[in-house]
Amino acid sequence: MGFNRPSKIQANALPILMAHPPQNLIVQSQSGTGKTAAFVLAMLSRVKGAERYPQCLCLAPTYELALQIGHVAEKMGRFCNDIRVTYAVQGNRVSPGTVLEEQIVIGTPGTMLDWCFKRRLLNMRRICMFVLDEADIMIDTQGFSSQSIHAKGGEEEGKIFHRGLAFSQMC
Ligand SMILES: Nc1ncnc2c1ncn2[C@@H]1O[C@H](COP(=O)(O)OP(=O)(O)OP(=O)(O)O)[C@@H](O)[C@H]1O
Ligand SMILES: [Mg+2]
Repeated sequence: MGFNRPSKIQANALPILMAHPPQNLIVQSQSGTGKTAAFVLAMLSRVKGAERYPQCLCLAPTYELALQIGHVAEKMGRFCNDIRVTYAVQGNRVSPGTVLEEQIVIGTPGTMLDWCFKRRLLNMRRICMFVLDEADIMIDTQGFSSQSIHAKGGEEEGKIFHRGLAFSQMC
């Protein structure tokens, strides 16, 4: 990957991201400071490659960003055995009755909700980690905030950070 040392935000966040028991975290830092690699590392280190079911959900505001995060996850995930990524985004057709085996599901709120609750492609009780990228946009954008909270499985806004990580750019 060409990484020699962690960025400042990674050095600060990684010990918390790897902590046992897991902790909730909100990270806010300048653009380009390496937040994606930080939460991707956390996702890769928390999921169990030997278990074939979704364990981690990651939400992003756009299709492009979801694919971009997945690309980083797939690149870094090459160093982890058997960890796979799937995309809950428009156009990614999954046949009814499919049982998802990928441990990490990255997507946009609408499709993720559809997969989680309408189509029940994954069991929310088995999700151990929830990542909200571009959290400021997600919480500010009408529709996204309630969808994100719903996808997280909570009815109240406060619950969104339960077993969750939120990453946003600093203005
Ligand atoms: N430890 C590191 N060493 C060198 N390069 C790194 C390191 N961590 C991340 N990068 C690179 O820095 C670039 C920006 O990272 P990233 O997209 O994660 O930033 P970000 O904090 O999410 O920014 P934004 O707020 O704009 O979303 C990427 O090209 C990434 O590969
Ligand atoms: Mg980012």
